[in-house]
Amino acid sequence: MKARILVVDDDRAHLTMLTAMLESWGCEVETASDGSGAVAMVRKKAYDVVLTDVRMAEVDGIEALRQIRHFNPCLPVLIMTAYSSVDTAVGALKAGAFDYLHKPLDFDELRSGLERAIEHGALRRGEGGEGGGAEAPAGMIGTSPAMRELFGMIRAVAPSEASVLVLGESGTGKELVARALHEGSPRSARRLVTVNCAALAENLLESELFGHEKGAFTGAQRQRDGLFVQADGGTMFMDEIGEMPLALQAKLLRALQQGEVQRLGSDRPVRVDVRIIAATNRDLEAEVRSGNFREDLYYRLNVIALRVPALRERPEDIPLLARHFLGRFAQRNRKAFRGFSPRAMDLMLRHDWPGNVRELENAVERAVILAPGDMVTERDLPAGLRAAEATGGPGHEGAAHDSAAGQSLEDAEREAIARTLEQVGHNKSEAARVLGVTRVTLRSKMRKFGLDQ
Ligand SMILES: Nc1ncnc2c1ncn2[C@@H]1O[C@H](COP(=O)(O)OP(=O)(O)OP(=O)(O)O)[C@@H](O)[C@H]1O
Ligand SMILES: [Mg+2]
Repeated sequence: MKARILVVDDDRAHLTMLTAMLESWGCEVETASDGSGAVAMVRKKAYDVVLTDVRMAEVDGIEALRQIRHFNPCLPVLIMTAYSSVDTAVGALKAGAFDYLHKPLDFDELRSGLERAIEHGALRRGEGGEGGGAEAPAGMIGTSPAMRELFGMIRAVAPSEASVLVLGESGTGKELVARALHEGSPRSARRLVTVNCAALAENLLESELFGHEKGAFTGAQRQRDGLFVQADGGTMFMDEIGEMPLALQAKLLRALQQGEVQRLGSDRPVRVDVRIIAATNRDLEAEVRSGNFREDLYYRLNVIALRVPALRERPEDIPLLARHFLGRFAQRNRKAFRGFSPRAMDLMLRHDWPGNVRELENAVERAVILAPGDMVTERDLPAGLRAAEATGGPGHEGAAHDSAAGQSLEDAEREAIARTLEQVGHNKSEAARVLGVTRVTLRSKMRKFGLDQ
């Protein structure tokens, strides 16, 4: 049996025995002694199966199962329970366990359980057999295990009708995932309609989604179809779903349950066939607990959860993404680049990217504009990246190695502004965006440096 298995048990002797047994079957085994350790390992590495005890001192097996499912719904988890308690077993299945095994273990049962779980996991990842993860969908870059896993999920889940909840920090690529899901579905010939639930006030969002009759409210001069009707036969991407007001959540739930919507001011329902993909950077489960998000709507949207990992969880993707963006912005700015200096790359690898891929994209765009030569060096990167390095770490060779040694801060600033303005055709809003300052700041600096003529 060829498989990578994570075994979780707080009983050392049992862990050792299991490891020996599984290894004798040809498995690669790693171990954790409690639930939180297991969750941390699953976040870092791809396993085929998790085999976990239920009763553990710290985080127990069921809680670990929940967290693992949240992070990686494709990964099968087998539960071992010492007590032939039906409650525990049922609880485990409800929480999404693949199956449960009774302790003391029957090794034939263990073996067949593992084999089924492995096969099931491969199917859910959309793999024919062996091999790790899938090709990236168009426009998405990444070769880290976490991203490959995600691509496999996208490929497996896209063709279905299931609602998908895309989770992840800001700038991780949730919108790209939504697009890939739509493109990979039989609905791709129809529209992908995007609505940002945070961008509109409650009443506007409602009429935007459901449409309105003429005269339904002041300013409604004509009858209008809502986005649901526009998305009929296609997909609706509801971005920042966590920001949707409670009253509207109820109406959305009704629309999804009944497959029909009503224009504001109308009592005639219109049938619609729309697949929903929702995204949020909030912890929706926490929002449910605190009463800000309807539990029933949460379960309806969260048929399948896809979590897009933060960039700092997959640093091996940084060079790839950086080069991708360098190519794109170099072309756009009609400049030629050889690449990044080793120190610049080092800084990028060490930064923790709170703004994720979007932050990296902006940093590279800025560097393309600022870099005087055909190489992006550390001084072309935002100050935040360089500051991170000042906190220590090896390789701090001559601070000004490839920076503008001896240049005063003011000169550097003036030069950066002048060069940026030139690159963006003296468009001040654009220059302010690239430099990461407000237009007011930019204007005052331009005045100060005499760049405003
Ligand atoms: N894997 C990737 N490959 C290439 N580009 C990416 C990738 N992930 C993200 N990007 C780019 O990064 C930027 C941010 O991505 P996107 O808008 O999808 O993030 P998001 O998760 O929706 O962020 P937010 O929560 O702030 O809305 C986009 O310009 C996108 O093209
Ligand atoms: Mg987004």
